[in-house]
Amino acid sequence: TQRIGVITSGGDAPGMNAALRAVVLAAEHYGMEVVAFRHGYKGLLNNEHISLNAPDVLHILQYSGTIIKSARCPRFKEEESAKLAAKNLDALNIQGLVVIGGDGSFRGAHHLGKHWNGKIIGVPGTIDNDLYGTDATIGYSTAVAIAMDALDKIRDTADAMDRVFIVEVMGRHAGFIGLKSAMAAGAERMILPELQKDKPLTIAAIVKHIKRVEAVRGAGSYVMVLSEHQWPGGAVALSEQLEAEYSMPCRPCLLGHIQRGGPPTATDRVLASELGVHAVELIRDGVTGVMAGLRAGELVEVPLEETWTKKSPLDVNLLRIQHEIFNPVKKPARD
Ligand code: F6P
Repeated sequence: TQRIGVITSGGDAPGMNAALRAVVLAAEHYGMEVVAFRHGYKGLLNNEHISLNAPDVLHILQYSGTIIKSARCPRFKEEESAKLAAKNLDALNIQGLVVIGGDGSFRGAHHLGKHWNGKIIGVPGTIDNDLYGTDATIGYSTAVAIAMDALDKIRDTADAMDRVFIVEVMGRHAGFIGLKSAMAAGAERMILPELQKDKPLTIAAIVKHIKRVEAVRGAGSYVMVLSEHQWPGGAVALSEQLEAEYSMPCRPCLLGHIQRGGPPTATDRVLASELGVHAVELIRDGVTGVMAGLRAGELVEVPLEETWTKKSPLDVNLLRIQHEIFNPVKKPARD
């Protein structure tokens, strides 16, 4: 029998359990054994392994988090770590490893590949959606749904009190969660890394837009989605600035790790199931060094290095609609 290993690594993402379940069930289908290492690369180094069978993963796909736990492991960057991991994998007679995680985890997988002969396949699991080569990562859909739900709730109170709200969302250095949740909830403004990079917003420009939207639309509330790390001091500092310097009633709201919990959406569960199975089938076919992805409805394989060296851009059409049509900065044509 072939024996494969599996880890969930880095920031957990809703749907990781569904991916893990798919790996174990697919392996069972093909007569392969599964060994999981708890706590990601850390567990791989500490030999924290358990064998996983179908009964262990039944009825976990509806839960976020990861039953085999995750961790960040900066020490895995070292050459000695990759060698130790390879030794541990070989000692257990493991021939393939599925790494469920984000770009840091894939860098680790690539690094391991230089020191280990087994087959390594990445499964994209991160709420940030910041991996090149797949239309979506596992967890992204759920994070967007959570942010949208929060924005809807914020809108109720913002409308009632005629207030400006700044809702800070995650995404690390990418604006995918910000853009999609802002659009889904009809937010008036987004401050996203991709936009800030070209033309950082000034507080004066923000205030001008708030006043402009109020004048054009006559609405009392204004909801702004702020991607993390895009304003010094974040949503709290920006909202204090607006109140203190411009006398604008404003409140901050930090969604934080709430974006990583609760039941995964159907989209994430299904994506995770497809990619988990695909990963096992790739190992079975002798493929290595790629991420299993889904693009335009097709299962694809993307070289691990491309997933972080290439950048997937934000959807330009969504940006245009959100920015120019729904919340114009310039005067709309009719006035
Ligand atoms: O990569 C997922 C993510 O949730 C990012 O959006 C965020 O920047 C980071 O992880 C938070 O990391 P931690 O859970 O280690 O605080």
